[in-house]
Amino acid sequence: MFTGFETIVSEDLSLAKQYLDDGELISIPTETVYGLASNAFNQKAVEKIYDVKRRPKSNPLILHCSRINQLFDFADHIPDEAFYLASSFWPGPLTLLLKKSKKIPNSITGGSPNVAVRIPNHSLTLELLNTLEYPLVAPSANPYNQISPTSSQMVYDYFNGLIPFILDGGKCKSGIESTIINFTSNVPEVLRFGSLTVEMIEKEIGKKVLDKTYVKEVKAPGMSDKHYSPLKPLYITDNIEQFLSVNKGKRTGVLSFTKPTTDNHFTMVLTEKGDFAEAAKNLYECLYILDNSGVEQIVTTFLPNRGLGISINDRLRRASVNYISYNKTKYEHPFAVG
Ligand code: TXA
Ligand code: MG
Repeated sequence: MFTGFETIVSEDLSLAKQYLDDGELISIPTETVYGLASNAFNQKAVEKIYDVKRRPKSNPLILHCSRINQLFDFADHIPDEAFYLASSFWPGPLTLLLKKSKKIPNSITGGSPNVAVRIPNHSLTLELLNTLEYPLVAPSANPYNQISPTSSQMVYDYFNGLIPFILDGGKCKSGIESTIINFTSNVPEVLRFGSLTVEMIEKEIGKKVLDKTYVKEVKAPGMSDKHYSPLKPLYITDNIEQFLSVNKGKRTGVLSFTKPTTDNHFTMVLTEKGDFAEAAKNLYECLYILDNSGVEQIVTTFLPNRGLGISINDRLRRASVNYISYNKTKYEHPFAVG
């Protein structure tokens, strides 16, 4: 829907601040994905985020700030391990879930007594946050359940005419969302795999983190099974060649991890050199381009399930409609569908 005005895409920080001070929504770049940001303490502005994203109000938002000491303002209890992780990885793609302080309005936590906080690692956005008198809330800047944007162009395509301003910070460096660690239970739990690997987190605190990324009762709507989805059906297979030959009659786009072995009219390659970080960086954009390319369906494979491959596989699984195995491959991936 275009409402008649043109969204400004610019690097102008003072304009960005002006819109936020006026209670408007703007899009901000982060190292993971672009966010749709507003003053966390302005309830009307927060409501606009839910409206524009068409996101249920029960789904809470991540608080973004620029100084680690702000944690003491936002959270009631900060376990040593949580603070230690924050000191090690902030600014960066780590989100901590903590017991919220009284200062944090229920409108941003979906009524939950816990709050999610992170310091994003993008120089423009850090500079912006430093000039503001309030923290920002910022979900990914995509309509609910669609592919998260990793460029200002994707945000513009989604929201031109619906938000006044996009702070242009180029292409996101990491490309998938922050890793969410829950510190409100007895043991640390990972609620969302993301750009920071669980291995790195476990190494830093010297203990195992419980995997709670897939639970039958949906704790947070973002953890629901279907997510990050293209509009065209995405299939995951263990044999792309076979899939293409069975689906000869259909225009199929291929999302290939490395150099493709098959000839197909529309193929996007995540990383020529098989580098996981590069694959993560390109994942959403490649999926988005395929989705808008006139193909009828998209096919891909799981990546090796280690390091960032775990996070990428998680996103692929949630974006997919089915897993089709020709080779009877057993995946280590615990949630392989099909
Ligand atoms: O990388 C990121 O984290 C990006 C950038 C923009 O910072 N933001 C992002 O926000 O991914 P969003 O809203 O798209 O995803 C946040 C996830 C959702 O699944 C939400 O349910 C969960 O975090 N979450 C936020 N606050 C929570 C809370 N209080 N309790 C449980 N889950 C929470
Ligand atoms: Mg999101």
